Amino acid sequence: MADTTKGTTLPTGFRGAEQGWPELRRIPHPPNRLPLLGDVIGVDRRTPLQDTVRYARRLGPIFRRRAFGREFVFTWGAELVADLADESRFAKHVGLGVANLRPVAGDGLFTAYNHEPNWQLAHDVLAPGFSREAMAGYHANMLAVAGRLTDHWDRELVAGRAVDVPGDMTKLTLETIARTGFGHDFGSFERDRPHPFVTAMIGTLTYAQRLNTVPFPLLLRRAARRNEADIAYLNRTVDDLVRARRTAGGDGDGDGGGDLLDRMLETAHPKTGERLTAENVRRQVITFLVAGHETTSGALSFALHYLARHPDVAAQARAEVDQVWGGTALPGYEQVAKLRYVRRVLDETLRLWPTAPAYAREARQDTVLAGTHPMRRGAWTLVITPMLHRERAVWGADAEEFDPNRFEAKAVRSRPPHTFKPFGTGARACIGRQFALHEATLVLGLLLRRYELRPDPDYRLRVTERLTLMPEGLRLHLERRAGTTAGPAAPTAAEAPSELRCPVHGTGD
Ligand code: HEM
Repeated sequence: MADTTKGTTLPTGFRGAEQGWPELRRIPHPPNRLPLLGDVIGVDRRTPLQDTVRYARRLGPIFRRRAFGREFVFTWGAELVADLADESRFAKHVGLGVANLRPVAGDGLFTAYNHEPNWQLAHDVLAPGFSREAMAGYHANMLAVAGRLTDHWDRELVAGRAVDVPGDMTKLTLETIARTGFGHDFGSFERDRPHPFVTAMIGTLTYAQRLNTVPFPLLLRRAARRNEADIAYLNRTVDDLVRARRTAGGDGDGDGGGDLLDRMLETAHPKTGERLTAENVRRQVITFLVAGHETTSGALSFALHYLARHPDVAAQARAEVDQVWGGTALPGYEQVAKLRYVRRVLDETLRLWPTAPAYAREARQDTVLAGTHPMRRGAWTLVITPMLHRERAVWGADAEEFDPNRFEAKAVRSRPPHTFKPFGTGARACIGRQFALHEATLVLGLLLRRYELRPDPDYRLRVTERLTLMPEGLRLHLERRAGTTAGPAAPTAAEAPSELRCPVHGTGD
């Protein structure tokens, strides 16, 4: 194999699998490949992930697809994914859907190329905002937003209406990240329709996904104009938010130890003294507003679907909430982590439906994947987590079934590492993981304590895709449990110390 390890920075455009995988022919592809079009028979441009999952089931742990002249390699076998987690040989690849978000999120944390200096700078400046201490400081705001959700659901219940689960979870998670991260209130619960920020965000995510499924971007000329308008709206919203904070003069103490925006505006890198530029702050705010709510709202929605469909699981989770929280109207920060079974419900939900369902890895050097597939430096593959999480050899013959007991400590220890990856892997894994898990566990606890969830017997799970996953059209009927008192909390601010060591990824994966 020719050595292509020279030079430090790889070109950023699309790199086809033919260039990077010298023995590509050994990797299976679907039968009936069409000239020019490729492997497009039976695919739907609205459901690329679910189509890929269908191919994966037929073709095995590594396979390739060709669409409109571009060839991709997909991976999901446990041994291959574990090898791809080796940070000394592989790194995040910014390609496909993630690269398509560059016009809106630029070198923000999620979309930055590994070589861009703003990634390390922003990571070091913002990681303390996700430390345990910082999370404890967000708790009161999370409770307050959850109180607005239960107020809304109480009103729907009294009116005899079923609740719109994905719609309401999106309101909840947007308000939570906006308030805890940026001291902003979108007023989502006071609106009948989604906030225009959400509409513009869904527009850009959907457009980024569609760009992968059309042969020529020119075919999307009208959609491209709409996308530009959406990006302009997102920028304006964020610029207003930042201007308001600058006018107010930060959180007052000037140490950058307040919320995320305060850190972005006031914190210098502890070693180099560098600060984020105004343009980069804009990119980061958009990144956090989008990444900080879309995936968590999907996770909560799928979890509520499963809880409604599995009354035995809901009863066990509810019993745990009653036992751990007792009569406490407003559970404290520490009381959330004690909901071990509720957390297992979430893990099992993210196993079946990891709401960011893929991440891409590229070779840092010429290497051989799992001792079998040679890859040149820069060659990349997309890891399909819903398939990794359903591999029978790891998860058993009932891998398609919902069973939170798979996440009992003993069962977790018995599985090989790197078989559960809803938050990605390595240095570029999700910075907001603990934020999402704390928020979602808290909210599920509050909802289980307050309501019985009744599914619509005719509902069949349909999954809508816009880079992320969401149960489509999910509505639930509620019944109020007797004697429940949970309600909104008064927000308080707490300070989080800033540390040099990465408190998020410091202990590894
Ligand atoms: C259930 C909820 C969530 C899921 C499933 C999820 C999933 C992921 C995944 C898979 C990645 C890695 C993507 C890649 O390798 O290309 C990621 C990265 C990221 N996530 Fe999350 N996420 C969640 C919640 C959050 C929250 C609440 C925040 C912020 C408050 C957040 C902010 C980010 C950021 C900024 C990155 C990029 C990190 C970097 O590259 O340095 N996420 N997330």
